[in-house]
Amino acid sequence: MTTANLSLDGKDYELPVVTGSEGEVGVDIGKLRAQSGAITVDPAFTSTGACNSAITFIDGEKGILRYRGYPIEQLAEKSDFVEVAWLLLYGELPNTKQLTKFRAQLTYHSLIHEDMKKFFEGFPNNAHPMAMLSAMVASLSAYYPETEDENHEQNIVRLIAKVRTLATYAYKKSIGQPMVYPQNRLNYCENFLHMMFAVPCESYEVNPILAKALNMLLILHADHEQNCSTSTVRMVGSSRANIFASISAGICALWGPLHGGANQAVLEMLQMIDDDGGDYQKWVQKAKDKDDGFRLMGFGHRVYKNFDPRATILRKMSDEVLAELGVEDPLLDIAKNLEKVALEDEYFVSRKLYPNVDFYSGILYRAMGIPTNMFTVMFSIGRLPGWLAHWKELRDEDSRIYRPRQIYIGATERDYVDLNQRG
Ligand code: CMC
Repeated sequence: MTTANLSLDGKDYELPVVTGSEGEVGVDIGKLRAQSGAITVDPAFTSTGACNSAITFIDGEKGILRYRGYPIEQLAEKSDFVEVAWLLLYGELPNTKQLTKFRAQLTYHSLIHEDMKKFFEGFPNNAHPMAMLSAMVASLSAYYPETEDENHEQNIVRLIAKVRTLATYAYKKSIGQPMVYPQNRLNYCENFLHMMFAVPCESYEVNPILAKALNMLLILHADHEQNCSTSTVRMVGSSRANIFASISAGICALWGPLHGGANQAVLEMLQMIDDDGGDYQKWVQKAKDKDDGFRLMGFGHRVYKNFDPRATILRKMSDEVLAELGVEDPLLDIAKNLEKVALEDEYFVSRKLYPNVDFYSGILYRAMGIPTNMFTVMFSIGRLPGWLAHWKELRDEDSRIYRPRQIYIGATERDYVDLNQRG
C-alpha cells in the first residue's frame, strides 16, 4: 500500500501513505490543501500524527510501551533513570564511559544560581509547586541565554540536573523550611530525596527502598510519545523558542487534571470518598451519570484500550513498597475497590476504561511521604528526558513551525455598528 485515494467534489486525489517501523500506517495529507483547498479536521488529534518520531513506540491495543525499542518492563527492572534519560536523548544505551560522564555532569550541574533563591521568596507560601517549577524553569533562560552557536547538550544536562533542586526548593518554600543543597556523593534519585526530606538540624540517611521506588517511577514516566505536554514542547520548540521556555510550556500543559495533574486529582478523589464515608459505589454511579460532571480520576486513556503497562508495573510495585515500608493506608482499600469495579462494570468495560499510571503513582508517592501537591512535580521530573528528547529530535531535523489550520464557524462579514446604534 503506497497511496490512498480521496474523492472530493467529484475530483480524485492520490495521497502518499507512510508506514512506520512497527507497521503503523499514515495517510500523508500535507499537500492536500495546496491541491484541493480542503483541510482535514480532527480537533483532539484522535487520528492525526503530527510528526515522525524514533523515540517511543506505543501499541495501545496490545498494552505495549517501548523506549527506543526497549520494552518498558525490561527498563523498569534492569535500568536506572539516568541511563534511560541518555537512551531517550541519544537513541542507544550508553557505554560505561558515556554513562559515567553523564552521571558526573548531572552531579556537577545540580546547583542553581544563588540569585534564583530570591525568586522563590516572592511567591506566597501556599503557591502550587507547579507554578514555581514552571516559572523557575523558564527563568533559567535568563542565566543560560541561547546564542547562535549554542551547543544545546549543555542546557539539556543543566535542566535534568537542576530540575530536582528547583522542585525540592519549591516544596521547602511551601513548608517554610530552608533550602537543602545537593550533595555530590549521592546519586540522582538519592539526591532528590535528600533535598526533599533532609532538614539542617538533623542528619538524614536516604532510605534505599524509597530511592529504588523513585527510580522506577521516574523511568515509567520518562516518555510517552505525542501526549499533550510533549506535543506542547514540540509546538513551542517549533517556533525556535529556547529550550527552557519550551520545557516550561510542557510543565504547564502537564499540570492539567486530565494529564499529569491526574495523580494529584486521584488522591484528592480518594480522600473525598473516604471523608464522605467510604461509599465508593456512590462515586462510581456519579462517574457513570452523564448529567454529573464527576469522572473517576486515574481511569481511562486516549491510547491504551487494553491496559496501561506502566499501571501494571506500578500496581505490583506499590504492593511491594507499601509492605516493605509497613504502610497501611485506608485510601488504598478504596482504590482497590474502585479498581475492582472498573474491571467488572459494563460502563467501564465497554468503554475500555482501565486504571492508568496516575491511579497507582499517587498511592505510591503518598506512601513515600511525598505531599499531594508535589505529585505532578514528580511527574515533571520523570517526563523531562522525554520532553528534551522530542525537543532535540525536532530541532535536529530543522522542522518547520507547527501551525494547525481551522474550520471557521463564526459570523460572516458584517459592517461595524456605531455604539449609539446598538440599543
Ligand atoms: N470516568 C468516567 N467516564 C469516563 C472516564 C472516567 N475517568 N474517562 C472517560 N470516560 C467516558 C467518557 O465520558 C466517554 O463516554 P461516552 O462515550 O459515553 O461519551 C468515554 O469514556 C470516552 O472518553 P473521552 O473523554 O472521549 O476519552 P479521551 O480519550 O478524550 O480522554 C482521558 C482520555 C484520560 C482524558 C479520560 O479518560 C479522563 O478524563 N480520565 C480521567 C483523567 C485521567 O486519569 N488522566 C490521566 C491520563 S494517564 C496520564 C497521562 O498520560 O497524562
